[in-house]
Parts: sequence; structure tokens; C-alpha cells
Amino acid sequence: MIRIGVAGLGTVGSSTLDLLMNHNARIAARAGADMAVTAVCSRDKSKDRGVDLSGVTWFDDPVALAASDDIDMYIELIGGADGVAKASVEAALSAGKKVITANKAMLAHHGAAMSKMAEQTDGASLHYEAAVAGGIPAIKALREGMTANEVSRVSGILNGTCNYILTEMEETGAAFDGVLADAQRLGYAEADPEADVGGFDAAHKLALLAAIAFGQEVDFDAVEITGIERVAAEDISFAGELGYRIRLLGVAEKTEAGVSQRMRPCLTPKNSPLGKIEGVTNAVMIEGDAIGSTMLIGPGAGGGPTASAVIADVVDAARGNTPPTFGLNSATGLSAPKPAAKGGDHGAFYLRLSLADRPGALAEIATVLGAEGVSIHRMRQYDHQGDSAPVAIVTHETGEANLSRAIDRIAALDVSLAPPVSMRIVSI
Ligand SMILES: NC(=O)c1ccc[n+]([C@@H]2O[C@H](COP(=O)([O-])OP(=O)(O)OC[C@H]3O[C@@H](n4cnc5c(N)ncnc54)[C@H](OP(=O)(O)O)[C@@H]3O)[C@@H](O)[C@H]2O)c1
Repeated sequence: MIRIGVAGLGTVGSSTLDLLMNHNARIAARAGADMAVTAVCSRDKSKDRGVDLSGVTWFDDPVALAASDDIDMYIELIGGADGVAKASVEAALSAGKKVITANKAMLAHHGAAMSKMAEQTDGASLHYEAAVAGGIPAIKALREGMTANEVSRVSGILNGTCNYILTEMEETGAAFDGVLADAQRLGYAEADPEADVGGFDAAHKLALLAAIAFGQEVDFDAVEITGIERVAAEDISFAGELGYRIRLLGVAEKTEAGVSQRMRPCLTPKNSPLGKIEGVTNAVMIEGDAIGSTMLIGPGAGGGPTASAVIADVVDAARGNTPPTFGLNSATGLSAPKPAAKGGDHGAFYLRLSLADRPGALAEIATVLGAEGVSIHRMRQYDHQGDSAPVAIVTHETGEANLSRAIDRIAALDVSLAPPVSMRIVSI
């Protein structure tokens, strides 16, 4: 009998209990072992968790539960990069237990050290299918299903809240703040939305995918992160007229300069695989030498989908399927991070300028862009808004550094009435 301890009985924890307790026979048969939740931990013992917890030992302290000799498997569903989540996972790993977590923030920051603990402790293993893209089995697909491949790029839409907001902005023409407020009312966005709309939650997931894809330790500090807070309704509408959608895209790539990891709003063609992803749906695209490209689409969050991924790990751990946390370990070649320098992207960009409506304004812009080696592919001027005329430009492929120099120079011109806005155009 495998004895399971669950800490954190919120959205994911209570759905996990539901599956483990109310569908135990099905899951145990697939695991090939009897299993039961024997202990739980949360803050409030009086809350109804939707399942019968009589006969289950209650712990007030997650670290005590994690270290207890009375459990074989520890499931951490508390959340937070540090604090008791981290302390309890470390306690369970050092006690040689199988650990399952949905905590991407913790793994993005401490995954490298934790995977070493799992590797160096007899009996310990660390599983985190639920940490990336909820119900989509992205970790297993990449780490095990595509193990034959030299992966060149892993990318995706990894935050349902952001994709919902951007989809709503496009459909209604409304501004970011109003759509965010509606998303909060509907429960699609947290009361404190910073982790989602700031791009951090999605960046945590990208860092985990990049570690597996490129056989290197998790390197969250190397992720270049821009949130969606400053995406304006007019950018969405101008992008639409140019044939694009704006999406918060995570892209991790292996280049000659090292591994680049970027999480930022990008323009992507409306009919491209990632451009078609709408609402809270998540998508993960994996490109490799043998496979070509494969995209996985599904629900990225929610109690049921995320608990489904937790149970997949429970079954794996019960069967003794415990591959190295990030596909490789220190003995088989997991390397130290080799990040590409930040700001070194190369490609086409969208640029929105607010220019004074006077003769010669566009010529001044064209001169600066030309001087910095940025060539214009398409340009549109829109109806005046007061004294200013918005202009949208699509560049030919150029260096990000060239574009930033041009933007600094344009911002300093008298004809420029507001800070220029730029976004990368990515066709994935
Ligand atoms: N929600 C999703 O869709 C989703 C998707 C993927 C991954 N995740 C990840 O899953 C984890 C859990 O998320 P969630 O949405 O389920 O969070 P949640 O609903 O806020 O639940 C958190 C749980 O942790 C408990 N808790 C908090 N501090 C504690 C402490 N000091 N000691 C013991 N228990 C404590 C809370 O206890 P009380 O209930 O007693 O207050 C609550 O039951 C996070 O790492 C999150 O990033 C969530």
C-alpha cells in the first residue's frame, strides 16, 4: 500500500483528493499498486474539502507531513516559490520520498537544486507534470515522448489568463484595464494579477520546458520577460488589420550564442498554429530534428485538468517510472546554463508611433530607421487622434539592438508625441 500525503487542499488539492479518493480503484489499477491518501495538511481544518477526511491524519505543518515516516509519497499543492512549500519539498526529498508538485514558481527558482537533491537521495524523485500547462501532458511529451530529438525550439501560450484577456480585447475592442477587471469578476484572473499579466507565471513554465529541451539546469534569471499590461487596444486593432493577433508567447531557442528564453507579447499571424489559440486555452509547440514540429493544446489550469496531471505523476511514481527530473542528470550530461545575451534577438518587428501631423514627419522617421539599419516592410498611417497621427510599421528582419537604438532616437525627435511601442513578430 502506497501511503500518500497531500499538503494544500485548495483548487488543485481538493480536486486531487477527489480523484484519489472517489476514483481510487481506477487509478490504483493503472498504477499496479494499492494506494490511499493517509494524511493531509492545510491551514484551515474546518473547511469542507468536498471529500470525507475522517480516518485521514491531519497535519498543521506541511514540513512535518513531508518528513513523516507514515507517508511514502508527498504531494505539494500549497504554492509559492519559497516558504513552507520549498521547505516541505526539501524535507520530503531528503527523507527519500517521491515528491509531486504543481509549483512552477518554486521549481523555476529552485528546480536545479531540488533535482540534485532528488538525484542524490536514495528513493527520492521529483515530478511536476502539473506545473506546466495544467492538463496538457507537456513534460512527459517533451522529456520522454521526444527524447530522440535535438530540440531547436520550444514555444507556447502558457498562461490562460493572459490569452483570455488578449482574446477579449480583440473581440470587444476594450482596453486592458476593463478586460482585466471583467476577468477578475469571472474568476479568470487573480485579485493580484501581477504574476499572470506580468508574464512571470508563464516565464516560470517556459524555464522548466527549456531545461528539458536543451539539457541544462533551470535558468529562470535568463528569461527576458515583458507582460501584457501595456498592450493597447489600438495595437490589437492595428495588428489585426495587418493580419496578426497579439499573444503572450514564450519562446526558448537554442542559438549559436546560447539558449535564449523570451516571454513577451508578440504579433503572430492569425492563421498560424499559436495565432489560432483563443481564450484560456494553452498550447505548447515543440520543434525537433526527428519530429519536425508537434503542438499540444488543452486546458492550462483549473482544478480538474491540473489534478489530472498530478495523478499522472502519482501513477508514474507508483510504477517506479522516475526519470531524471529534467531528462538528464549530472551523471548523464545535464549542463550548467548557457544563456544567450539578453536583447540579442533578430527578426521582424511591429512598431507603433504617434507622430505630429506635419510635413516631413514620416521622412524623419524613415531617416532614423535607415541610419540604424532597420528597413521598412510595410507602413500604415491612421486617422488623426487630435494633433497626433498614429503610424504602424512592420520592419524587415533586423537586430533587436538596431531597433532599440532607432526607438531611442525616434523618442527624442520633436515629431514623436508619445513613446514608441514595439513588439516582435513571430510566426509559430
Ligand atoms: N489553480 C490552478 O489552476 C493551477 C494550475 C497549475 C498549477 N497550479 C499550482 O498549484 C499550486 C496550488 O494552487 P491552487 O490554485 O490550488 O492554490 P489555492 O487554491 O490557493 O490552494 C492553496 C492551498 O494551500 C494551503 N496553504 C497555504 N498556506 C499553507 C500553509 N502555510 N500550510 C498549509 N497549507 C497551506 C491553503 O490552505 P487553506 O485552504 O486551508 O486556506 C490552500 O488549501 C500552486 O503552486 C499553483 O501555482 C495551480
